Amino acid sequence: MANRRQHPLSVFTETNYLHAFANPGYITHLFWAQWQTVPLPEPGFFADQTIIVTGANVGLGLEAVRHFARLGATRVIVACRSVEKAEAAVANVRQSLTPEQDAACKFEAWDVDLGSFASVAAFGRRAAAELDRLDAVVENAGIAAGDYTPLEGYESSITVNVLSTFYMGLLLLPLLRRTATQYNVRPRLTFISSDAHFFARFAEQYEPSIFDALKDPSTMSHDRYNVSKLLEILAVRELAGILDKNNVPVTVNTVNPGLCRTQLFRSLPFGIRHLVHGVLYTVGRTASMGARTLVSAAAAGPETHGQYLDTTEVWPVSTYVTSEAGNKAQRRVWAEMLDILDAVHPDISKNIE
Ligand SMILES: NC(=O)c1ccc[n+]([C@@H]2O[C@H](COP(=O)([O-])OP(=O)(O)OC[C@H]3O[C@@H](n4cnc5c(N)ncnc54)[C@H](OP(=O)(O)O)[C@@H]3O)[C@@H](O)[C@H]2O)c1
Repeated sequence: MANRRQHPLSVFTETNYLHAFANPGYITHLFWAQWQTVPLPEPGFFADQTIIVTGANVGLGLEAVRHFARLGATRVIVACRSVEKAEAAVANVRQSLTPEQDAACKFEAWDVDLGSFASVAAFGRRAAAELDRLDAVVENAGIAAGDYTPLEGYESSITVNVLSTFYMGLLLLPLLRRTATQYNVRPRLTFISSDAHFFARFAEQYEPSIFDALKDPSTMSHDRYNVSKLLEILAVRELAGILDKNNVPVTVNTVNPGLCRTQLFRSLPFGIRHLVHGVLYTVGRTASMGARTLVSAAAAGPETHGQYLDTTEVWPVSTYVTSEAGNKAQRRVWAEMLDILDAVHPDISKNIE
């Protein structure tokens, strides 16, 4: 791999940092949005619907489950790293519901570890076998890793936030498609990204293989999280185009929940963690408020297909994403990811045809 490491301060002259800070709309919006009350869909919106939420034991995922139940969802799959965590989440949510809300919603505690492709595959098989319909998937589970940890041969934030997340999405697509036809609805597949994508330096885009370059422990830095969130946006854009071409009636979108007071930053180095927590406790949304953005994206219409939502609106992605270099990277990221997932699960790419 070519050596593209630079002086740490050069981060401030990187194109994407300049784009983020040179865009007054973005900065104003960032701070304005943090204090807004995020609207929820109307009561009963999710009646009859089955919804999967990953990473549902704490933070935004847990609060999203609570919102879905209060908004009338019929069946919610609470997907966590262990059944015990999922059961605790279900108990936590149920005790905050009215008896009517509780009676109307069937919760199921399922386990899935996005650090293991085998676990994701088992989750997909179970969903195909046990769910008669699937209206929305909230791919929320994610990490901001401080250190390099290999999982399935890739750095953990790439495995969890990107590869396993899209693997699950592709595994669930046949069920989403079947639901669309059988129930005459348009299901949603929502990925939780971040405005951190504005700050991705993404030096790996210059390498012969982007995902191989991202395996390199010597380039591990805070940029890996930003890149993982950028890759999600690039992949969603490409996937949406492919689904359109193949007339698949499923909306795929991505949402930025804003800065929220959750446990996401628990693994960051001590100094950075405390700095981030200081910012979060000054301007951060509560997890419940942040989770409203997830619920809104999971309720959104076809106008959000392939789009990046901020709060509840379609919002411009970074200028890098829509640049020529971004478009090229988008196609490469998707092709490389499909090759990786096809090797893990032969013919998984057939699910988007
Ligand atoms: N908080 C923010 O300011 C913010 C901003 C932008 C985007 N986001 C995004 O929002 C999403 C939710 O984050 P959060 O803020 O709610 O963080 P959080 O409180 O740390 O919750 C993350 C969830 O993901 C789960 N998870 C992590 N690794 C997993 C794995 N290998 N398999 C299955 N589940 C796993 C965690 O489970 P365990 O408890 O078992 O680890 C937890 O349930 C993430 O995708 C994050 O990138 C958050």
